[in-house]
Amino acid sequence: TGATTIGGVAVGATTSALLLNDNSTAATPAADVITALGTTTIATPFPHQAGISIPARQQSHGTVAAFDLAPNTTPAQLKALMQAWTAAIADLTAGRAPAPGSSSTASPTPAPDTTTLGSGPCSLTITVGIGPSLFGKAGLDPAARPPQLAPLPAFGTERLDPARSDGDLGVVLAADDALVVFHALRVLTRAAAGTAKPRWVMSGFSRAPGSSPDPAATGRNLMGQLDGTNNPAPAQPDFAGKVFVPADAPTAWMRGGSYLVFRRIRMLLDSWDAQTTAEQERVIGRHKDTGAPLSGGTEHTPVNLSGQNPDGSLAIRGDAHIRLAAAAGNSGAAMLRRGLSYDDGLTADGQPNAGLLFLAWQADPNHGFVPVQKHLTHSMDALNRFTTHETSALFAMVPAPVPGGYLSQALLD
Ligand code: HEM
Repeated sequence: TGATTIGGVAVGATTSALLLNDNSTAATPAADVITALGTTTIATPFPHQAGISIPARQQSHGTVAAFDLAPNTTPAQLKALMQAWTAAIADLTAGRAPAPGSSSTASPTPAPDTTTLGSGPCSLTITVGIGPSLFGKAGLDPAARPPQLAPLPAFGTERLDPARSDGDLGVVLAADDALVVFHALRVLTRAAAGTAKPRWVMSGFSRAPGSSPDPAATGRNLMGQLDGTNNPAPAQPDFAGKVFVPADAPTAWMRGGSYLVFRRIRMLLDSWDAQTTAEQERVIGRHKDTGAPLSGGTEHTPVNLSGQNPDGSLAIRGDAHIRLAAAAGNSGAAMLRRGLSYDDGLTADGQPNAGLLFLAWQADPNHGFVPVQKHLTHSMDALNRFTTHETSALFAMVPAPVPGGYLSQALLD
């Protein structure tokens, strides 16, 4: 009694209690949390892929990976890759062991994959897209690339590493368990063998479920700020219009999809930590502890960009991050930011090699990330002094496959 099944493995209440260092043998509410965490699956919010706005609470681990096609990949090979990924994603996200793939490098008698034996799907989502460089390869006409997928312009102040930027295909994987995320990427990599191989892989994390009393509360980044307060919210009537490509868009194969801008942004944490709290708050334009705008109120009070201090100066400074990033100063440009923190140890000079894997989802990057990043650069966002953009990528994250179909079918068929 009290036993439940996680990924095909029965787990008793006693096991859960042991994990929690709790001597009671009865199924406790806490034990239920553990089993629910492992067994949770995320439904595809058709016509969108999961992993963009669903789940609402970001999973605690995420990996972003780019793949490049092998030279001379044929249209049929690319289509077979997308079909294999579609099938693997359906299995993995449902917590089923994917069928052993048939890749060119697979051994005739592959060893059984035990990596996630005993784990549930843990809210795994896998979101797939294509990069600008795919056009011109595998039979895709370069002229058919939509303007939204034009390579991002160069921005000042960035120091991009080309080897860890861009890519023909992009994948975002997330789950409440790091092993589940790692394994899912291995499965996709094996399924792609012979047709595409990973170009770069970066992993990050966000708050673990249960780590704070209110799961709906805004999470904090490595600078200690509440990050995500003024994101578009799914309950707002214009949410879908900001995040997803509309059903009547000229680029038919992207209807229901979303454009992802990915930037690895290192935080210069030693410099940041040397600032006073008051200065850190002026850099962003919000209080660090509560997230309330410096123009007054609480976290979700609308920002008053013309609010003044008693001495007549602007409450939110001219170079504050939220002033320059706000839709109001960028012709209404909007994006859904769902970043992950990363910690890669130390740089060669002993500085923290840590920061933000910045993921911004939007219906059109030319009315989202691009004008905002231009503004942040040219108007000297105060935050620029404490960050370095190290890598960059843009992907057209295609709509969910239709039942029986495969990812990006409307483009490739
Ligand atoms: C707001 C941090 C980079 C766009 C914010 C807020 C924080 C923050 C703390 C206020 C709370 C919120 O509304 O989420 C950071 C950090 C960054 C970074 C630490 C880099 C490490 C960027 C970049 C962009 C961006 C590269 C886009 C080009 C925005 C937008 C807002 C915002 C649109 C909301 C502004 C508003 O309307 O109030 N950011 N940000 N951020 N950020 Fe960033």
